[in-house]
Amino acid sequence: MRSLLLVGTVVAFASTAYAAIAQSFVPPAASPESSSANYTGQTNGTISNGPVVQGKSFDRFIQIWIENTDFATAASSPVFQSLSKQGLLLDSFYALTHPSEPNYIAAVGGDFFGSADDDFYHIPQNISSVVDLLEAKNISWASYQENMPYDGFTGFNFTEKDYLTGNGTYTYYVRKHNGLIIFDSVTNVTDRALRVRNFNDFANDVKADVIPQWNFITPNLVNDGHDTTIDFVGDWLNFWLIPLLNETKFNNNRTIILLTFDENETYTINNRIYTLVLGGGVPEKLRGTTDSTFYTHYSALSSVEANWGLQSLGRGDTNATLNNVFEFVANATGWKNNGISGNSSSIPLLNITGTIPGPLNVQFYTPFTAPNTSAVGAGGQGVFAAQGLNTSLTAASLPAPANLTAQGQANPWGVDPGINYANGTKVIESPTASSTAPGGGGGGGKNAAIGARAGAEAALFVGLGIICGVAMVF
Ligand SMILES: *[C@@H]1O[C@H](CO)[C@@H](O)[C@H](O)[C@H]1NC(C)=O
Ligand SMILES: *[C@@H]1O[C@H](CO)[C@@H](O)[C@H](O)[C@H]1NC(C)=O
Ligand SMILES: *[C@@H]1O[C@H](CO)[C@@H](O)[C@H](O)[C@H]1NC(C)=O
Ligand SMILES: *[C@@H]1O[C@H](CO)[C@@H](O)[C@H](O)[C@H]1NC(C)=O
Ligand SMILES: *[C@@H]1O[C@H](CO)[C@@H](O)[C@H](O)[C@H]1NC(C)=O
Ligand SMILES: *[C@@H]1O[C@H](CO)[C@@H](O)[C@H](O)[C@H]1NC(C)=O
Ligand SMILES: *[C@@H]1O[C@H](CO)[C@@H](O)[C@H](O)[C@H]1NC(C)=O
Ligand SMILES: *[C@@H]1O[C@H](CO)[C@@H](O)[C@H](O)[C@H]1NC(C)=O
Ligand SMILES: *[C@@H]1O[C@H](CO)[C@@H](O)[C@H](O)[C@H]1NC(C)=O
Ligand SMILES: *[C@@H]1O[C@H](CO)[C@@H](O)[C@H](O)[C@H]1NC(C)=O
Ligand SMILES: *[C@@H]1O[C@H](CO)[C@@H](O)[C@H](O)[C@H]1NC(C)=O
Ligand SMILES: *[C@@H]1O[C@H](CO)[C@@H](O)[C@H](O)[C@H]1NC(C)=O
Repeated sequence: MRSLLLVGTVVAFASTAYAAIAQSFVPPAASPESSSANYTGQTNGTISNGPVVQGKSFDRFIQIWIENTDFATAASSPVFQSLSKQGLLLDSFYALTHPSEPNYIAAVGGDFFGSADDDFYHIPQNISSVVDLLEAKNISWASYQENMPYDGFTGFNFTEKDYLTGNGTYTYYVRKHNGLIIFDSVTNVTDRALRVRNFNDFANDVKADVIPQWNFITPNLVNDGHDTTIDFVGDWLNFWLIPLLNETKFNNNRTIILLTFDENETYTINNRIYTLVLGGGVPEKLRGTTDSTFYTHYSALSSVEANWGLQSLGRGDTNATLNNVFEFVANATGWKNNGISGNSSSIPLLNITGTIPGPLNVQFYTPFTAPNTSAVGAGGQGVFAAQGLNTSLTAASLPAPANLTAQGQANPWGVDPGINYANGTKVIESPTASSTAPGGGGGGGKNAAIGARAGAEAALFVGLGIICGVAMVF
């Protein structure tokens, strides 16, 4: 069995240092290809992938998400300026809503399901993600999460020794920035859960030349700018990404790298974010240029679907307003975009939060619905239907949203299903009801107090099952 390398004292409800304290960048490891005790979790060997499946435009897609930064601030950073000269700037790229977590969910699931906060959620197993689409075509994938303590970790966050100052502890990893771990269709399937890996695994996988074909990379809360500044992010990019751009085991002439932000910082204006496409797969003539086509986080799904001829999720990835495919990929695949670009008045407001109904919205609660099963996505294929999908419950047949808060109910999808992989093997612990705190902080397992609460919470869960009967679309 794999051993877990824990650094410092793990305190479940530790008070931690945040951005108020000016922090200076410290390299967490000797190089991006070196493992480090600062990353906490030891590597679980190299990932195993099948043969490379050729795409029409690229063979490897890597997306890296930075946090909450002004377009103008990013544009003023010397590191971003320098990167923009070797890549393609997408200057009409929009996030979908606020705050962070719904954007991370949407980028892999095609919808944010009404979510308007960063609470603990899970999404039932018959609701698909990009993983279903990739695996249907044998395309390898991984998510690499910096400072996640072990592969398949389902906790709310993780606190460890503060390696920046050497003083006290710090919460470097948060579940809300790990979209795939929120999907039971990933977390409840061991082979999938263990492909959500930590940065020691990343170091190992690059060295072994086994970086998969689709990747989602989340730096920790200081390196992604969440708790820090754009200059700190620039230092991290200089340490981590820029050397990797010269590493053919990471970036080759069939690789594209999407460097983007989760959301725009200011809620009262539309949600434009600074986005670069880097990598050897960016056509030579486009390097140092700008593409002003209107893109959203759904474009990262539709472009991948177009590239490999994948099925679609039948959600935002097939919404003709929001799903433009990166133009060079659209051209290589014969896909026709909608023509919206620049600051066109056809760009919808994507700064709306709180009032969009859905199963992850406690005040405008609706059950999970089937995707639009008649949609044809950018891959030219139909919609993936997961096992157990209830296709009778569609957006058109939905009841009016319910205000669960007014009924004294919590969101049923805030109940932690208790799946855990502390030893690399699936263990189901007691489900815990909490919209904010399950499983947090602990290195090995879930909070001990949780078991005691489980009985009462289970009763609530059963109650909700009746209220939201149709929601349980298993
Ligand atoms: C871990 O971080 C410390 C700074 O706190 C740094 O001195 C050390 O070199 C790092 N460890 C590795 C292996 O890079
Ligand atoms: C948000 O988007 C607006 C409109 O595109 C842009 O002017 C601004 O720089 C972006 N960032 C912030 C934080 O406002
Ligand atoms: C660490 O804590 C000590 C004692 O409180 C303090 O003197 C020192 O400045 C701290 N170091 C950093 C880098 O914050
Ligand atoms: C996980 O899968 C098992 C069957 O393998 C099933 O019994 C259980 O309900 C699933 N849990 C969730 C949360 O989907
Ligand atoms: C990457 O390679 C280019 C030449 O291809 C070189 O100019 C640059 O210094 C290299 N960067 C790093 C970080 O090694
Ligand atoms: C891409 O890289 C491969 C392997 O290094 C090489 O054989 C091929 O010629 C390159 N193609 C282009 C278009 O540069
Ligand atoms: C969204 O942005 C628009 C301007 O682009 C602004 O008029 C509107 O008030 C914002 N909405 C919210 C909810 O802040
Ligand atoms: C597509 O997205 C637009 C903009 O957010 C939205 O108004 C429209 O309802 C969506 N279409 C469907 C079919 O969901
Ligand atoms: C895509 O094709 C259109 C139409 O042929 C052309 O105008 C455009 O320049 C092409 N764009 C790219 C990025 O190749
Ligand atoms: C839902 O109910 C809560 C508690 O009664 C109330 O504060 C909130 O405004 C309601 N939300 C909506 C959208 O009506
Ligand atoms: C390591 O990951 C692989 C999947 O990549 C999995 O089969 C194996 O069980 C994992 N081992 C441990 C100890 O986590
Ligand atoms: C981490 O989780 C704990 C509960 O598990 C919570 O109290 C704390 O606020 C969380 N911290 C962060 C930074 O998410």
